[in-house]
Amino acid sequence: MFDYESLKPWFFKLQPESAHTLVGLGLRAANYCPPLFNGMIAKNFVTHPILKQELFGRTFLNPVGLAAGFDKNATMIEGTLAMGFGFTEIGTLTPKPQEGNPRPRLWRHIEEESIQNAMGFNNDGLFRINHRLKNIYPFSTPIGVNIGKNKTTTEENAIKDYTTLIKALHPYADYMVINISSPNTPGLRDLQNETFIHDLFTAAKALTDKPILLKIAPDMSEDQAVALCSHAVACGADGIIATNTTIDYSLVSEPEDIGGLSGEVLRERSFYIFDAIARELYGKTTLISVGGIASPEEAYRRIRAGASLVQLYTSLIYKGPEVIEEINHGLIDLLERDGFTSITEAIGADRV
Ligand code: FNR
Repeated sequence: MFDYESLKPWFFKLQPESAHTLVGLGLRAANYCPPLFNGMIAKNFVTHPILKQELFGRTFLNPVGLAAGFDKNATMIEGTLAMGFGFTEIGTLTPKPQEGNPRPRLWRHIEEESIQNAMGFNNDGLFRINHRLKNIYPFSTPIGVNIGKNKTTTEENAIKDYTTLIKALHPYADYMVINISSPNTPGLRDLQNETFIHDLFTAAKALTDKPILLKIAPDMSEDQAVALCSHAVACGADGIIATNTTIDYSLVSEPEDIGGLSGEVLRERSFYIFDAIARELYGKTTLISVGGIASPEEAYRRIRAGASLVQLYTSLIYKGPEVIEEINHGLIDLLERDGFTSITEAIGADRV
């Protein structure tokens, strides 16, 4: 359909946020041109019985999903399917619309195949996004809805933001994600504490039967991460997504002093935290791994460590949509090589 490697130098001449806007326009254009849209699906979407699994009451045709932050406003859901993702997570969205942080707020670290972002939950807000989701749900692939609090909401009132969003959006989500792990909303990560988790999940679970997952940051000790996630599961969380971006700026040679790092430099840190959590929680809840996944081998490593699903964002920027197909085809080969007849047999294979 198009060759990302030849387009990449042109994209990389643009400011990162302008490149993202351009890609978004292209993905939306596919909606208005069915032959293009169908051609993209036929080329990019990998299906194979070995990759298929039932989760959250839906069928996931392949395990590679789009991580939160790419489609903050639910305007590109068809486009993400056309790129080949087996599921997509929209958001983070907040009750009120907000601008996010001043620009520039997105940087490439090209040598390190990494991104630094300080977006700050720029999004259209509940009212508009609710309307979009209502029109599209149920979609052919599962949709996760990732939610956060507004910047102006105090920590004392944060639970209200999350419950407002769950109440309105749960009919249009296959799963929901509580995001208290973004580094770009002041005070948000302070909500990663046991009292808040208890109060939040107690309130949230009374509102819906839909799965509600917790997404955590990689910037805590193994013990802290395990304790927090175990507590969340005990309070009713239906799964854990690990991890968000890191604020360890020593990982890149020329860091900005705000925002979070994703991509290659996050890979090992993200795996380390995921693996620690999986050691404790594999078999007790659903685990999703995200952070620096750019190859079939890395995706397979996360699955064998206990991930039912994987997500990516930054490798899409460096390798293009081809990375989704590459990972899915590679996973088929790796699963067959190791004698599995279904991905479900491989999930957590290294845990036993
Ligand atoms: C993100 N990420 C993110 N996560 C989240 O829960 N809510 C969000 O709004 C955003 N926004 C966002 C914007 C940008 C520009 C990036 C690069 C990332 C984090 C993302 O979902 C993921 O957890 C990390 O990026 C790690 O995965 P990758 O990028 O290394 O595959």
